[in-house]
This record gives sequence, C-alpha cells and structure tokens, in this order.
Amino acid sequence: MTAAGPAAPGTTSPVIDRIEKFVRDIPGWTPVDQLMSLFLLAWSGRGVQGDIVEIGSWCGRSACVLGLAASMDGGTHVHCIDPFPARDDWYRNDDGSWSLKVQAGAESVVAYDQQTVWAEPFERDILPVYERFAGTLEAFRHSVASAGLEATVTPFRGSIGGFLAAPAGRSVRSRLAFIDGDHGYEAVCRDIREVERILVPGGWICFDDAFTTSAGVDRAITECIIESPAYEQAQQLTRKLFVARRRG
Ligand SMILES: C[S@@+](CC[C@H](N)C(=O)[O-])C[C@H]1O[C@@H](n2cnc3c(N)ncnc32)[C@H](O)[C@@H]1O
Repeated sequence: MTAAGPAAPGTTSPVIDRIEKFVRDIPGWTPVDQLMSLFLLAWSGRGVQGDIVEIGSWCGRSACVLGLAASMDGGTHVHCIDPFPARDDWYRNDDGSWSLKVQAGAESVVAYDQQTVWAEPFERDILPVYERFAGTLEAFRHSVASAGLEATVTPFRGSIGGFLAAPAGRSVRSRLAFIDGDHGYEAVCRDIREVERILVPGGWICFDDAFTTSAGVDRAITECIIESPAYEQAQQLTRKLFVARRRG
C-alpha cells in the first residue's frame, strides 16, 4: 500500500473505504464512523498552520487515519505520543484491575492508576496484542508501515510533557490535538495544560470518550475547556468532543 496523496481523476476511492482498509487489521477500540469524523476534522482544518499531535496511540488505529488526512495536504506531520507499554510494563492491582508504569528514557510514565483497567477488557483486548507483537511500539510501527505513512506519522515514547521537552517536540506547534490517553481526571487536565502550550489560535482539540463513560474525562473537559473563555464551538459527535481555541 502506498501513502495517500491526491487521487488522480477517475481513481478516487471513497475515503471511508480507504479508512476501513487501513484499520482492518489494527487492534483498537475506535469504530470506523468515529475515525471518519476524526479524518474530517484533520482534513478540513488543513488551512491552519501546524502539526497534528495525538496523545494515546496504542497500535495506530487513529494515528493512521490522522496520517491519511495529513498526507493529503502535503506538509502536516503527525506526532504520536504514548508510553507504548510492553507486556511487562502492566501490573495487577489488589482488586484484579491493571495499571501501567513505563520507563521511557529518563521519564517514568504511570498510567491508569486513577481509572484502572478491569480484568475482563485487559484479557480480551490488551493481552492478545502481546501475542501478535513484541510490544505496542512494534504494533504501531507495523500499522504505520502497512499504511505507507512512515514519512508522515512518527511515534514518541513517553508523555506529552516529555515530548515537548525533547528535541523532537521542542518547536512543534499544533493545529489539532487528539487526546485519547489516560482517562483519569488529573491525567486529562495535565494533557490539556501541555497541549495549550502548543495549540495555535484557531486550532482544535478532540477528546475521545467525552461525556459517555468516563467521569474523569468529563470533569476535566468541563473545568478546563467548557468553563474556559479560551475555547469556542464545542461540538459532541458520538463519543468525541471537538472544540476550537479562540483566535482573538
Ligand atoms: C484507548 S488507547 C488509544 C487508542 C488509539 N487512539 C486508537 O484509536 O487506536 C489509550 C492509549 O493511551 C496510552 N497512554 C496512557 N497514558 C498515557 C499518557 N500519559 N500519555 C500518552 N499516552 C498514554 C496507552 O498506552 C494507550 O495506548
């Protein structure tokens, strides 16, 4: 498969078909209709200068869709930030649920300590990935290479704070940030604060699992975004909330 550039007349395949093909074999949770809305946001915001930043990439399902949109405008890069946990980075809590701790270079990333992962989804959705791949970074790289998007989409192992302090992230400005990492209240507030350092006026934030199943995500969005005068045009579409940073 090759990178998605502008299609020649008569060879255009519907974007939704391309998305379906891209993500067919990529483990993850985001259904195709929601990936389509993410694609549309990324693609229609191409007039705003800046890169796309994803917090929480797992095996690359949403990253490949963001990469598809970015590759169509020629200049946008997609930075995918995730601790990319290996199997041994997960530890079992006393109540049987799971959390993770990843040492990524000098940075230690702890996740799912407030809102832990219950045993059933851990065994059903997470463990099988480690049977197919050595780790989630390997799974992510495989997904991006299969989509032909290596020049557009790059992973960073760590947190957004670690990324912005690293050479790869120091000069990045973002026109779209997709926040789908740790869903605990403090973690989402921290991700928003870091994103605000690089989000350009007129740029968008998209939250996954907004106002559906995750109390921490809802509270963080309400306090940091909905109640802030810095944002406008908040729109809920299925499980995603899209919101723009005011220009003035
Ligand atoms: C729901 S999955 C992301 C799914 C992905 N967006 C997709 O559509 O396929 C959540 C991801 O967040 C990552 N994560 C957890 N804590 C994080 C943090 N502090 N920063 C970035 N990613 C984090 C996990 O390792 C996991 O890969």
